[in-house]
Amino acid sequence: MEITRTPQCFAFIALCALGFSPLIAAPQVHEMDPAKVVGTQKCGECHKFEVEAWKLTPHFKTFNDMHRSPEAQKIATAMAIKRLKSESLCLTCHYSVQKKGGVEDVIAGVSCESCHSPAQDWLNLHNDKKLSRDQKKIKSLDAGMLRPEDIYTVASNCFQCHLVPNEKLINVGGHSAATPGFDLVAWSQGMVRHNFLLDDGTEGKVNKPDAQNRLRMLFVVGKILDVEFSLRGVASATQKATYAVTMAQRVGAARTQLAEIQKLAPTEEIAAITEIASSVSLKLNNKAELTAAANKVGEMGRKFATKQTGDKLAAVDSLIPKPDKYRGAPFKP
Ligand code: HEC
Ligand code: HEC
Ligand code: HEC
Ligand code: HEC
Repeated sequence: MEITRTPQCFAFIALCALGFSPLIAAPQVHEMDPAKVVGTQKCGECHKFEVEAWKLTPHFKTFNDMHRSPEAQKIATAMAIKRLKSESLCLTCHYSVQKKGGVEDVIAGVSCESCHSPAQDWLNLHNDKKLSRDQKKIKSLDAGMLRPEDIYTVASNCFQCHLVPNEKLINVGGHSAATPGFDLVAWSQGMVRHNFLLDDGTEGKVNKPDAQNRLRMLFVVGKILDVEFSLRGVASATQKATYAVTMAQRVGAARTQLAEIQKLAPTEEIAAITEIASSVSLKLNNKAELTAAANKVGEMGRKFATKQTGDKLAAVDSLIPKPDKYRGAPFKP
């Protein structure tokens, strides 16, 4: 059983970032080309504190810990898997693979490049001193870099792993179907936070909290993504069991939260998304309709993310998780 991997359309992301809204939204499924992975050591040459922060998270620790846990052994037995670290099903979400000289090697857990994309093609562009800031941005984006500014894409990554779209792995393997309570603000602003860049692009010493507008955008975009990926989850459900039930419940919960957001800060896009999510039929073996709905939600979500800045979302502030709800403490150098 392998997770379907669809190639990401980078040209499409670049268009989005420049403010065009494409007519057809391709499902954005994270793909990591092992031949383009450079490894976190490289990133650490310039991003020292980001690497130190990462090393304290389960994203790093899963590399050494996961395959040793009794829970992993139970999953392995149920799924008839022998070596977790070479099983593509587990590699997709728990590990980073590098291919060098034709040989594939598992080099880390969930790494910098799991979230910012394999760097070979963009590494030298994203910090090229001969380029202006705008040029660096456009060129590295074109070369496939996932930049924080492209909030919908960079955050869609989280949902591709934190919702687990594999019915057998859940119903037979006993893996969790989704991270309970996953919220983009709470989960990104605690131990995962690594905001060390200063306004001039040099590395500072303070792990800055996000600005309020950014938190608003992360919060609402997170709810839209939850709807999109839960719909994708239900789309592949064929049996009434834990997997289908969890995914359908998530659609319901995220839909309710979006309706609440819409009451406080109405936008065209969220009106459309709640409408799509309430009219689609959450039943088993309904892949075509549910996938089309998820694609439409993604399209509207991208539109929302490129149009809005957070300025008009002050009314949702009361809903945004506060620092005491953040997952783990942010790293301080
Ligand atoms: C040779 C030094 C160097 C290396 C190596 C390097 N970076 Fe950077 N990185 C920079 C600089 C400088 C900036 C700020 C560029 C600017 O905004 O002008 C930056 C910015 C970034 C940003 C923010 C971009 C944005 O849109 O604001 C990300 C994300 C990033 N780097 C990730 C990585 C990752 C992942 C790696 C390893 C694969 C890496 N970098 C390796 C120097 C480096
Ligand atoms: C689609 C992504 C995805 C896939 C595929 C996946 N996992 Fe996970 N796994 C996660 C996430 C996300 C968590 C954290 C879960 C949570 O927060 O509830 C997790 C947690 C776990 C845990 C509990 C935490 C720990 O490290 O002990 C185990 C064990 C585990 N996974 C094993 C596996 C095994 C074995 C496979 C392959 C057969 C696998 N996973 C495939 C995403 C995935
Ligand atoms: C490539 C897959 C992948 C991506 C992308 C990913 N995660 Fe994770 N994340 C995991 C897995 C797997 C675990 C659990 C590891 C373990 O416990 O073994 C995890 C654990 C975490 C934890 C620790 C939770 C806890 O308290 O134990 C946080 C917080 C987290 N992720 C946040 C995020 C955020 C925010 C994003 C997006 C910006 C993200 N993750 C993207 C796979 C991923
Ligand atoms: C779990 C996913 C994830 C991982 C792993 C990850 N990043 Fe990020 N990174 C993000 C997200 C999301 C943002 C935007 C955060 C925000 O808006 O608060 C970001 C932002 C950044 C920035 C810009 C920060 C700023 O101050 O503006 C840099 C630089 C960066 N990452 C580099 C790295 C490096 C280097 C690593 C590996 C050590 C890494 N990232 C690992 C998801 C990740």
